Amino acid sequence: MKTFHLLQTPVRNKVVFLRTDYNVPLRNGKVWDAHKIEASSLTIKYLLRNNCKIIIGTHLGRPKGRIVKELKTDPLVKELKKLFPKIKITKLNDCIGKDIKEKIQRAKTKQIFLLENLRFYKEEQANDPAFAHSLADLADIYVNDAFAVSHRKHASLEAITHFLPGIPGIQFEKEIIFLNKVLKTKRKSVWIIGGAKLDKVDFINKALKKADKVLIGGALIFAFLKAKGYKVGHSKVDRTSVENAKKILRKFSARKLVLPLDFVVADKLSPKAKTEIVPYNQIHHQQIGLDLGPKTVELFKKQLAKAKVIIWNGPLGYSEWVKFSQATKEVGRFLGKMKVLKVVGGGETAEAIYRFHLERNFSHVSTGGGATLTFISGKNMPGIKALERNFKKFKRS
Ligand code: 3PG
Repeated sequence: MKTFHLLQTPVRNKVVFLRTDYNVPLRNGKVWDAHKIEASSLTIKYLLRNNCKIIIGTHLGRPKGRIVKELKTDPLVKELKKLFPKIKITKLNDCIGKDIKEKIQRAKTKQIFLLENLRFYKEEQANDPAFAHSLADLADIYVNDAFAVSHRKHASLEAITHFLPGIPGIQFEKEIIFLNKVLKTKRKSVWIIGGAKLDKVDFINKALKKADKVLIGGALIFAFLKAKGYKVGHSKVDRTSVENAKKILRKFSARKLVLPLDFVVADKLSPKAKTEIVPYNQIHHQQIGLDLGPKTVELFKKQLAKAKVIIWNGPLGYSEWVKFSQATKEVGRFLGKMKVLKVVGGGETAEAIYRFHLERNFSHVSTGGGATLTFISGKNMPGIKALERNFKKFKRS
């Protein structure tokens, strides 16, 4: 990635527009999982050490260009205060405008301003240049530490970089470094792909190109079983995914796929359901597959033990419920014993890893969901392209 680098750019005493991805889960008006906020703290600390005034802009949820009370950025302040107890943090009630600008200008250096939800303006998602210009007008430089939303071509990620010198933040660079490491490796690599979403065709195709083995779990597996002609009962599956799975299975590289041997099935979709372990070809028509069985876990461990590089996207079972979280937990624990490069990507996967306190078992837990999948699949990332283009434009000045 040919861009400016934060540690090599003179930022002392500057007013910085810092785009973060604080799209965090909220419950009863409180932040439920603050990992994304914590991930931006290295960049914020660095800017504070350099006496910067930091204007943080983020989206929260999908308010679709309207003001939604529950999606105001106020709950984020408490988390920022936990991270920076000695720093003055001011929540602003808008993102742009004369009042906002004056408030920031009047303030002393080394403090943080948090803007209101950028997506309250429909112009944000429309990548509107006038809106982006108004955001840019607040600051001297732009820092993007929001890798997790950089697959979106939005005003605070793309259009803004036409008006200000732009730099990736520390977390952003870290994401790219780790994801590139696993993508560019020549060493034996095993990819684990699971999760509930069945729209990962590009990702699986990339895996089949890059990896030595591709282990399939999560709801994704039922599309493959059905494509092979097996019965999957009431397990989660849809027609498009089965068609996609058929196409994948026809490829020569499909020999790299490692499919499960057995499943934990339930009589209903409930955390208290009656469960049973059955071989992959004996799922009863009323049963729902919700986790991988013990034989599959052993098979996966055997495959993983040979790997030098591992990438994991998607929980292996319905891991929100204890009864169906065993495979995800066991594989996560097993990886803790391996001294190899291990990267976890994807919102649900990261959530599961933190829930089971397994984060120390990995070299890197990506903050990205869709962004990580997009990056690994080799698709366009407007937020990255924008920083690269910005570098060419501003390097002389
Ligand atoms: C995420 O949580 O994956 C990012 O913040 C992107 O959110 P979006 O899918 O609503 O654009």
